[in-house]
Amino acid sequence: MRMVDLIAKKRDGGVLTKEEIEFFINGYTEGEIPDYQVSSLMMALFFRDMTEDERADLTMAMVRSGDEIDLSSIEGIKVDKHSTGGVGDTTTLVLAPLVAALDVPVAKMSGRGLGHTGGTIDKLEAVEGFHVEITEQEFADLVNRDKVAVIGQSGNLTPADKKLYALRDVTATVNSIPLIASSIMSKKIAAGADAIVLDVKTGGGAFMKSEEDAVELARAMVSIGNNVGRKTMAIISSMAEPLGHAIGNSLEVKEAIETLRGEGPEDLTALCMELGAQMTVLGGKAETLDEAKEKLQQVIDDGSALEKFKVFLSNQGGDASVADDVSKLPQAQYQIEVKAESSGYVEEIAAEELGVASAMLGAGRQTKDDVIDLAVGLMLEKKVGDHVEEGETLAVIHSNREDVEEVKRKILDNYKIGGKEVNISLIKQVITE
Ligand code: URA
Ligand code: CA
Repeated sequence: MRMVDLIAKKRDGGVLTKEEIEFFINGYTEGEIPDYQVSSLMMALFFRDMTEDERADLTMAMVRSGDEIDLSSIEGIKVDKHSTGGVGDTTTLVLAPLVAALDVPVAKMSGRGLGHTGGTIDKLEAVEGFHVEITEQEFADLVNRDKVAVIGQSGNLTPADKKLYALRDVTATVNSIPLIASSIMSKKIAAGADAIVLDVKTGGGAFMKSEEDAVELARAMVSIGNNVGRKTMAIISSMAEPLGHAIGNSLEVKEAIETLRGEGPEDLTALCMELGAQMTVLGGKAETLDEAKEKLQQVIDDGSALEKFKVFLSNQGGDASVADDVSKLPQAQYQIEVKAESSGYVEEIAAEELGVASAMLGAGRQTKDDVIDLAVGLMLEKKVGDHVEEGETLAVIHSNREDVEEVKRKILDNYKIGGKEVNISLIKQVITE
């Protein structure tokens, strides 16, 4: 087989076979096929699109390029959840104990944050003592006993995707639906998921700006999942503003605890109920989404979801008493109010830019080795649709340094205040096939 023939075939609108896809993925991972040939093929794929079979074959070839996590010693259907690029997205912290309280096993492999998006592990490490350095055996034992555990990411998960993503980034081929869909799905499948729930964000701050594109991406991922034997469902949700009020590690843990108590922000709660219901159905613990929502509400109301969070924390060395006393979480030294410069309605809050503002305070990493400040971040007091008077507080900066003028400016520039009373519909669509 010659790489140049594959490029020509795709350039002319042909369909690659499973063997051809494996040939270039394996050759590229091994360093036998050069970047220039692979980037040429990526551009051909970008313009020619891929069939359902090609997408499934590409996904599975990337899965097999590195470690595949074997969760077969864990009983039940292991359901994983993935969100495409959320800011202040506290859903994982809420969902893991919430669905585990219904005996849906959550065997989560997570990463740290980079850039403006936070990582689940960083957030959990805001709890004194919590750690994800556990062996695979301990991980499996914990999930079998208590239905929930989080382990750090294996270094050799889908190396083909790592190389391809870096190459696509510098060859203007990131924004292709088949390539994004196979990239995301390969990581979930390699991490051992039996079933997958996807939260595809749409709007200003998201990868997919239009709802139409978001739906197409969601359909592409659902189709890949179902084609390779992993039941998959998706939600399309709005990113016209950050989710909930908190952005930043310790602040988001506090928000998750409030949500598990049934006292969380409306939007975060609604999204967790929707995603949690899908996870519960896929995990075989409810027949319908409505039945699942009723059960989820019950474990919030009777306190067992919060109790599960405590068990989860203490199993991995964390101080579970934070769930009863959130003042034990790291607190920033200064709380600085950001006041509106005009009156009107909040029409939009650029989520990504607020993620950057939070990272500027020290909540996020610029490089992989940066040490982050778990206490700092933002609390949004006004959200889209709220009315605000000039001089009223829009947000509170939690900081360990006093000089935050730059951060304040960034927040003000990204709160769009105008005359329209905008009403966001958070959950746009549910896609099951
Ligand atoms: N996120 C991914 O993991 N892969 C892509 O290709 C795009 C976004
Ligand atoms: Ca949040």
